[in-house]
Amino acid sequence: MNKIDKIYEGKAKILYTTQDPDLLIQYFKDDATAFNAQKKGTISEKGVMNNHIAAKIFEYLVSQGIETHFLKTLSDRDMLIKKVSIVPIEVIVRNRAAGSMCRLLGLAEGLHLACPTLEFCYKEDKLGDPLINEYHIRALKLATDAEVKKISQMALEINEHLKKFFLKLNIELIDFKLEFGRYHGDIILADEISPDTCRLWEVGTGNKLDKDRFRRDMGNIEEAYQEVLRRVTA
Ligand code: TMP
Repeated sequence: MNKIDKIYEGKAKILYTTQDPDLLIQYFKDDATAFNAQKKGTISEKGVMNNHIAAKIFEYLVSQGIETHFLKTLSDRDMLIKKVSIVPIEVIVRNRAAGSMCRLLGLAEGLHLACPTLEFCYKEDKLGDPLINEYHIRALKLATDAEVKKISQMALEINEHLKKFFLKLNIELIDFKLEFGRYHGDIILADEISPDTCRLWEVGTGNKLDKDRFRRDMGNIEEAYQEVLRRVTA
């Protein structure tokens, strides 16, 4: 399977068409952004690490019965995926308070939430992906009620699977972001799951093994991603 035309370039990935109209190649870049691209940089070999980490996570989720766009790893930076139409909603699941939730509600970082908490953001870079609720989604026709129900159920189920997956690697899943796509009338998991899109804290030490190291200029960014890759492929 070869790349034919570039059809989309995002902040961290590029999508290419292939000979098969139903399939795309997702290429992982080293570019890193934060705070709606106000902060820009590169993380050396991030694309390679995230491609392999995301593949392992997708393979695990598929083994647990979750439908995803992942088909196979083609090379260090290329992943073969099903071509979906992305639902313009970023779905965030939180187990402990961090990041924007702390700012929004004045919470201490790390507060244990009484239940997994689901948030929706409107995927619109020029607005900075604002927080929205199910009424906004219905009013703006971003997704049908049935799609929102399916997406919510899948997101919470994925959280349960991923919490277990990471805990076995001595990593606590604090929160993460998902994107879903429409594929032949169904809703499936799309995009990526990686240290770019999750908060991952080492159990015991609380060491951050994710993109917060870049967002907050904490150093040892590559080492943190490498450590996640090492554990997921061990
Ligand atoms: P937040 O606390 O900044 O809202 O982020 C929540 C989670 O979502 C965190 O694991 C990082 C991830 N995330 C993305 O993957 N992309 C984004 O654009 C943002 C804002 C967060």
